[in-house]
Amino acid sequence: MIFEEFVEFIGSQEGAPPKPIPADAPPPSAIIGAAVPRIDGPLKTTGTARYASDYNFPGLVYAVPVRATIASGKILRIDSTAAKAMPGVCLVMHHGNIMPLYRNASGGRNSENRPAFEDETVYYWGQYVAAVVAETFQQAQAAAGAVRVEYEPAKFSVDTSLSDSLPAEGQPGGPSIMSQRGDTDAAFASAPVKVDEVYITPVETHNPMEMHATVAVWDGKKYTLYESSQGVMNHQNVMAQVLGEPRENVEVVSRFIGSGFGGKLFPWPHSAIAAAASRKLNRPVKFTLSRKMMFANSGHRPRTQQRIRLGATLDGKLVSLQQDYRNHTSYVDDVRENCGEATPFLYSTKNLKVTSALVRRNVGTPSPMRGPGAVPGLFALESAMDELAIKLKMDPVQLRLSLDTLVDEEKNKPFSSRHLKECLQVGAEKFGWARRTPEVGSMRQGDLVLGWGVAAASWGANRGVCDASVNLWCDGKARVSCGTQDIGTGSYTVIAQIITDKTGIPVRDVEVVLGSSSLPPGPTSGGSTATSTFVPAVIDAVNAAVKVVLTVASTTKGSPFAGKNANSLALTAGRVHEKDQPAAGGVPYGEIIRMANLASANGDGKSGGLGADPKSHDYSTHSFGAQFVEVEWDPGIARLRVSRVVSVVDGGRIINQRTATNQMAGAIVMGVGMGLFEETVYDPRNGHPVNDNFADYIVPTIADMPQIDVHFLDIPDFLLNEYGTRGIGEIGLAGVAPAITAAVYHATGVRLRQVPVKIEDLLRAQQTA
Ligand code: MOS
Repeated sequence: MIFEEFVEFIGSQEGAPPKPIPADAPPPSAIIGAAVPRIDGPLKTTGTARYASDYNFPGLVYAVPVRATIASGKILRIDSTAAKAMPGVCLVMHHGNIMPLYRNASGGRNSENRPAFEDETVYYWGQYVAAVVAETFQQAQAAAGAVRVEYEPAKFSVDTSLSDSLPAEGQPGGPSIMSQRGDTDAAFASAPVKVDEVYITPVETHNPMEMHATVAVWDGKKYTLYESSQGVMNHQNVMAQVLGEPRENVEVVSRFIGSGFGGKLFPWPHSAIAAAASRKLNRPVKFTLSRKMMFANSGHRPRTQQRIRLGATLDGKLVSLQQDYRNHTSYVDDVRENCGEATPFLYSTKNLKVTSALVRRNVGTPSPMRGPGAVPGLFALESAMDELAIKLKMDPVQLRLSLDTLVDEEKNKPFSSRHLKECLQVGAEKFGWARRTPEVGSMRQGDLVLGWGVAAASWGANRGVCDASVNLWCDGKARVSCGTQDIGTGSYTVIAQIITDKTGIPVRDVEVVLGSSSLPPGPTSGGSTATSTFVPAVIDAVNAAVKVVLTVASTTKGSPFAGKNANSLALTAGRVHEKDQPAAGGVPYGEIIRMANLASANGDGKSGGLGADPKSHDYSTHSFGAQFVEVEWDPGIARLRVSRVVSVVDGGRIINQRTATNQMAGAIVMGVGMGLFEETVYDPRNGHPVNDNFADYIVPTIADMPQIDVHFLDIPDFLLNEYGTRGIGEIGLAGVAPAITAAVYHATGVRLRQVPVKIEDLLRAQQTA
């Protein structure tokens, strides 16, 4: 699975052609853009919200996997005699006795290209080789420890250097050209100023607060899977294929999700193991992943190694840009980390080439992680840009401003809306960039040396197909449902705001129902596309419901509007009134539909993918951003902190200032993790990710947090939808790490082309200084 395919797929879905945005669409009311608190907040803070593993049913049993202790080889024998004899054990599942599980050929995205226990080959340390199901979790865990597995180990590699020799460019397995224009070789050779460096990003593991879990319930005909999923519709589609069932026999429920960061986009093998066990035992089965398992069994951001060559003129024109990247993938799938996501269009240059190659390692299958491709790719490109600015003796903000372009030079199309320049300018202003002195170590504050760095950010914008359904009930309350889900980002609240905008029904009276595959099909929460995708469908549905109300008002006997033209009526502040009269004099819409003896006015809505809109083919659609970072370096005690971050984001119109700001702040937390702490380390002796726990895999804590300032340009992009909203899931992270290493250089003079920044690197530089 290649993530760019997934994102392209989102936009290419045919579905209904998108409704044209009406030219007379009124500007949204003040609720769009307001800082509305999360409507699901009280459920979460009171423990009422049920996450996947919170589901319990009579007769529920627990599945615990047995995981491979070698990184490559064959399973010779599984001896479960002792395990089966232990108290409470119901079942030991493995390749020899699993019911048929199938691969998934089309129409859905699976994380691992093959079902659990498909064969007896081991491809990575930690791979599930068996699973024990028992009456209690403790019994299952104890028995899993008693399953004896005999292996024939084979040679393996978890090498971190990705410098393996590759077949030639264009040959099978060799580097493939992702983007090319002009002649980079000639332009680079003759450029008076050059940067030619290799940048490295490590394996990072998704660590959402909520760990993966499946509670599978087989009722004799149908599976219900309680999941922690970023895409209930896709999960249903894939699991129906894996289980060999028609789609309606699999229902997937994810009402609340403690985030995912991409690790929960597509199903992992535990889901099918739980489903198969529940069928075999005819009992509900709970399979929860431990934090440890999350490091081997549910994806990671793959390691990348990227050579960047920049050629520039003395006055800072970019004449050549080449990026040759490699990423590691597993033996189970070809996962390309699309490191050139932003390279072909971020800066103006005539000569450009991006190539990509895969190097196999004995690791679990990588998966998209927040800003897949772009985030490691921009670490390389933006680091190289900082190095170029220094060589040119130009200010790094100025260099980027001078290379800005409003035309996507790869596609030769204008951007639907590009405001990178304003992001840089506003960010510089807010940060106080004008006070920066460029010499290394030149900015001091008492004992501390300050370093200031900047990086630009970009992430694609797209829209998929979506259905939604709205009821405007006769009691004055509304319900809206859609088969998307809220992974913690604020979708519940944003959808309620849309209903409020279009009807005036207060947010507290809007019930938003998400997180089940039985609802009208909605988008995966991925690729920063969910909001732009559900906005037009929800608007369409609520408009249709309002139309029913107005028609009923004009046709129902006893209605004060009987006999009027429905088009002359409006629904505002929850009241039906004549368009040219104030809403206050109108009638609550509930009264009107009660007169007609209707329980509710219903509306169904639909929207098509962006690609189905002919206008979209004339534009390149992306979000942009700029991140400014201050680090404090205390050379006396060798302490480095990120002390201040300003993030300016051009993500179209922002629907909820509060949830959006929170998401950008979270991205900064993640960026500090990427810059300073996070790296999954595989033991070269056995392929075990050795730091598979929160003591050894460091994520930032509140004590590591800088002062955070988030600002949205809030410029609508009407190509996407009526509100002009794009999506902001990934953009906030994209520039943080390269801005940190740029700031580290500015403070210390140490250029780090690899994250996370290690204190040893800084100490070594100090000693040689
Ligand atoms: Mo994001 S990597 O699309 O969850």
